[in-house]
Amino acid sequence: MPCHNGDEAHERQSVDIREKVILITGGASGIGAAMAKRFTESGAGAVIIADIDIDRAQEVATTVGGEAVHLDVTDEDETRSVIEQVARAHGTIDLLCLNAGIPTDGSVDAPNEDWQRTWDVNVMAHVYATRHALPGMLEKGSGYILTTASAAGLLTNIGAAPYSVTKHAAVALAEWLAVTYGQRGITVSCLCPMFVDTPMLAGFGGHTAEMQGWVKSLAITTDDVAEAVLEGITEERFLILPHPEVGEYFQRKAADYDRWIAGMQTLQSSVVPGT
Ligand SMILES: NC(=O)c1ccc[n+]([C@@H]2O[C@H](COP(=O)([O-])OP(=O)(O)OC[C@H]3O[C@@H](n4cnc5c(N)ncnc54)[C@H](O)[C@@H]3O)[C@@H](O)[C@H]2O)c1
Repeated sequence: MPCHNGDEAHERQSVDIREKVILITGGASGIGAAMAKRFTESGAGAVIIADIDIDRAQEVATTVGGEAVHLDVTDEDETRSVIEQVARAHGTIDLLCLNAGIPTDGSVDAPNEDWQRTWDVNVMAHVYATRHALPGMLEKGSGYILTTASAAGLLTNIGAAPYSVTKHAAVALAEWLAVTYGQRGITVSCLCPMFVDTPMLAGFGGHTAEMQGWVKSLAITTDDVAEAVLEGITEERFLILPHPEVGEYFQRKAADYDRWIAGMQTLQSSVVPGT
């Protein structure tokens, strides 16, 4: 009988990345490109970089000796076709990294199109990809899904309502997939970094000099993230936290929500003066 309170002892296994067929969305830049490099160094069998920016995807593929394919993750038909194409060419997809994402800032006043686009890229893309990859994985009785959410999905991202809300949804979907398919051979990890030094970083720090300084002071490198990912996958950990303090903040939030909100309000005033 499955346990409902999360106390069931989880027997940690050890996943070996060697010879694995790995598909990475948003692999043409930043965290995705670093994962492609790190997986290749660890002996992955095939690394396929799927990105809307096919030129940069090709550059990364050439560097790591992988393959590049065009994919707009918000297009369900193209997602299905890429998944089918990779499974046909390589016989399987062992590790599906749902990493493409966009950093939309603004409040509830952000235009509807911005909210919708962020929802489509940060959440629906994960629905589409898992919808079309899971049947093959379930049939095989094994498969690994890594979703790149964010610390914003566990905590919040000051100044970025669409990003925070959609990343919460991405965490919720990953959690649901882990609960639903874990007993059928599917492992799910959810990567939740705080700030990482990638082109996306500019999208988080645009408000004030204080905010930019704060964001930069917390940013780690993409290599740090890729190392944490490899370690997290090897240990089959659900939450992968390249910034360990995020786990601590998440626990504090659960322990005393009101106190956590008060602390975040203080942080908000210090990085966005006048608010
Ligand atoms: N950089 C950070 O501080 C940070 C922190 C936490 C989480 N994240 C998350 O990490 C992931 C990777 O971000 P990054 O920092 O490497 O950013 P990045 O901008 O360097 O890379 C994002 C990649 O996604 C691709 N992409 C965007 N829209 C796409 C679409 N519709 N279809 C296919 N590809 C698309 C881009 O072309 C780009 O190659 C994102 O999900 C992001 O939300 C980033």
